[in-house]
Amino acid sequence: MKFFADTAAVDDIAELNSYGLLDGVTTNPSLIAKSGRQIKDVIAEICALVSGPVSAEVAAMDFDGMVREGEHLAGLADNVVIKLPLTLDGLKACRHFSQKGIRTNVTLCFSANQALLAAKAGATYVSPFIGRLDDINIDGMDIIRDIRTIFDNYALETDILAASIRSGNHVSQAALAGADVATCPAAVIKALVVHPLTDKGLAQFSADWQATGQSIL
Ligand code: E4P
Repeated sequence: MKFFADTAAVDDIAELNSYGLLDGVTTNPSLIAKSGRQIKDVIAEICALVSGPVSAEVAAMDFDGMVREGEHLAGLADNVVIKLPLTLDGLKACRHFSQKGIRTNVTLCFSANQALLAAKAGATYVSPFIGRLDDINIDGMDIIRDIRTIFDNYALETDILAASIRSGNHVSQAALAGADVATCPAAVIKALVVHPLTDKGLAQFSADWQATGQSIL
């Protein structure tokens, strides 16, 4: 499973990248707003840091506007992926970009049928929002499993990008359900390494080693 960072915070992206844990980045208008920066500046800076795909989302609601904004965003760097909403205009724009060989991420997906439409429109990625489904008492993992089955039934090549991930449990469950990618806040990715038995074992090994008085070097 690939890990994308779901953030527009450049410091967090640089840190995750330094561990070799980052396969890409996703942003959205809320994350850009939180960064307090201009979208063009922040996307260009992220793309210079990370060689993998970087999703940048259009703000327009209509096809023509999405195409204009998407073309502008795609011009910022080779690894920009145009993020489009799961609406009829968004699907039309997805088809437009996929025919031009520009990668797309169809976002705000909350059902298997929506994901099927995104795949038919040629999306590179479709983003089912796990956490927001859980918030309304719908099991987001069921949606991921259904999408995996449908995509496999028809050999659809669109990658399932599990989004709105809130916990390590979401990450492992999405991996078990067959998601291709999980996009997560930086804190969720870093928390995946934490286990109390690792800490306890390390403290014991360290104490025992100190007692030997040895030095490896
Ligand atoms: C996906 O690409 C979105 O940016 C994101 O995962 C939304 O997550 P949220 O529900 O935590 O805002």
